[in-house]
Amino acid sequence: MSHHADEAARPRRFSAGSPLTGAIRVPGDKSISHRALMLSALCVGESRISGLLEGEDVLATAAAMRAMGARIERGADGVWTVHGVGVGGLMQPQAALDMGNSGTSTRLLMGLVASHPITAMFTGDASLSRRPMARVTDPLSEMGAEFNASPGGTLPLMVRGLQPAVPITYRLPVASAQVKSAILLAALNTPGTTTVIEPVPTRDHSEKMLAGFGAPLTVEVDADGVRHISVTGPCDLKAQDIVVPGDPSSAAFFIVAALIVPGSDLIIENVGMNVTRTGIITVLEQMGGQIERLNERTVGGEPVADLRVRASALQGITVDPAIVPSMVDEFPVFFIAAAMAEGVTVTSGLDELRVKESDRLATMARGLEAIGVAVEEREDGLVITGSGGRALPGGGPVATWLDHRIAMSFAVAGLASETGVEVDDTRPIATSFPDFLALLASAQGQA
Ligand code: S3P
Repeated sequence: MSHHADEAARPRRFSAGSPLTGAIRVPGDKSISHRALMLSALCVGESRISGLLEGEDVLATAAAMRAMGARIERGADGVWTVHGVGVGGLMQPQAALDMGNSGTSTRLLMGLVASHPITAMFTGDASLSRRPMARVTDPLSEMGAEFNASPGGTLPLMVRGLQPAVPITYRLPVASAQVKSAILLAALNTPGTTTVIEPVPTRDHSEKMLAGFGAPLTVEVDADGVRHISVTGPCDLKAQDIVVPGDPSSAAFFIVAALIVPGSDLIIENVGMNVTRTGIITVLEQMGGQIERLNERTVGGEPVADLRVRASALQGITVDPAIVPSMVDEFPVFFIAAAMAEGVTVTSGLDELRVKESDRLATMARGLEAIGVAVEEREDGLVITGSGGRALPGGGPVATWLDHRIAMSFAVAGLASETGVEVDDTRPIATSFPDFLALLASAQGQA
C-alpha cells in the first residue's frame, strides 16, 4: 500500500471553466465496498462483487483479508471474486496490516480480529495514526480482546483476539457506524448475543448486509425510538453475489459543483439513496438547490437513483444538528456550497469532524480563508457568509492534510472562483475516488 511517502505532493490549480453537463456515473460506495469484502471473506464458498470501489482504502481492506487467509481476485470484467475462510477461520497474518489512510478498514477489522485467536499489528499513514481508536478498543476490550496502542491510543496498535470472546451489551457513546460495525463483526464469532444500542441512528449498511449474508441479526426500536441491534454467534454466513451501488458521498462533489457553476445541468447516475446517507441532498434542497431524482430503483438491497442537478441560487441556512450523521462526510463540500449561497450558513454539532482524515473544521476554515471566504470557526461548527452566487475570489495553496475530501472540496471551489484555487496535493483523492479528475474533465466536456 502506498502512503505517498516517497513521492512528491501533486499540487494542482482548479479554475472556472465550462458548465457541468451530460451524464456521469459515480464509483461504488466506499462503506458498502469494505463490508462486502469483509463479509465475503467470512463465508465458506465463493462470493462475487460487482461495482466494488477500487480506491486505496478498499484495496487496503482487500489486502488485509488476503493476509488473513481469504482468496480475493479481480476479474478482467471488473467483478471481484472472494473465497472466504468461514467465520472463526481467519488466520494469523504474517506481517503488519497496513491500513494506509483508511479509518473504516482499521476499525472494522479490529472487530473481526478481536474474536479470533490471532494477533495483528495495525499501521497506517500520518493522518490515520493521529485518529482516536479508544472508541473501538474500549468495547472490544470488554469482549476480551487485548490492545497495545501507541501513546494516545492511536496506531501503530497491536490487537490480540480472544476465542471464545464474551458477548456484551454496549450503548454507543458517539454516533459512529464504525464503532457499531466493529462490535457487530466481533459478535459473529462470539457465542451468545451481543447487542449494540444506538441512540442516534448512523449508516445501516452493516446491518443490511449482515442480514443479507444470513447472520442472525435483529433490530428493535424501543419506546424512546432507540435502536437495539443484536447478533447471536457463532454463526455461518452464506456466500452472496453483491452489487455495490454508487457512493452518495462521491456524488456530493458533483452535486455541489453543478449547483454552483453557472449554466450546469448534469445527470449523476447510480447514486445510493439510503436515508442514512442523503442528508446532503435534503439540506441542499432546503437551500434552493434543484436536484431531481430519476429512475429510482433498488440495487444490491439499497435504494439508488440518477440525479439531475441544475445550477441554482442557494440561500444560507441554519443546519439542524439532528441531520449531521446522515451527511457527516459531506460537510467539507457543503461548506463550499454555503460559501456560494446568499447570506449566512450556520452549522453546529460537528465535533466528530475534528477526528476525520483531518480536523475538517480547522482545515476547511483555513482553506476558506485562503480563498477569500468569510468564515468563523466555532468549537463544533463553522459559520460562513456566502457570496450570493458571485464567484469566490480564489487563491491558495490550500493545505489538504492527507484528506481526500478536502482536496475534492477545494477543487469544486476552484470551478466557481475568479482566479482559481490551488490545492497543495491531489494524491489523497485516490483513497476514495480515483476517477475524480477524469470525471470532472468529462462533465466539463474536456474528455
Ligand atoms: C463510515 C462511517 C463514518 C464515516 C466514514 C465511513 C463507515 O465514520 O465518516 O467515512 O463506513 O462505517 P464514523 O463511524 O466514525 O462516523
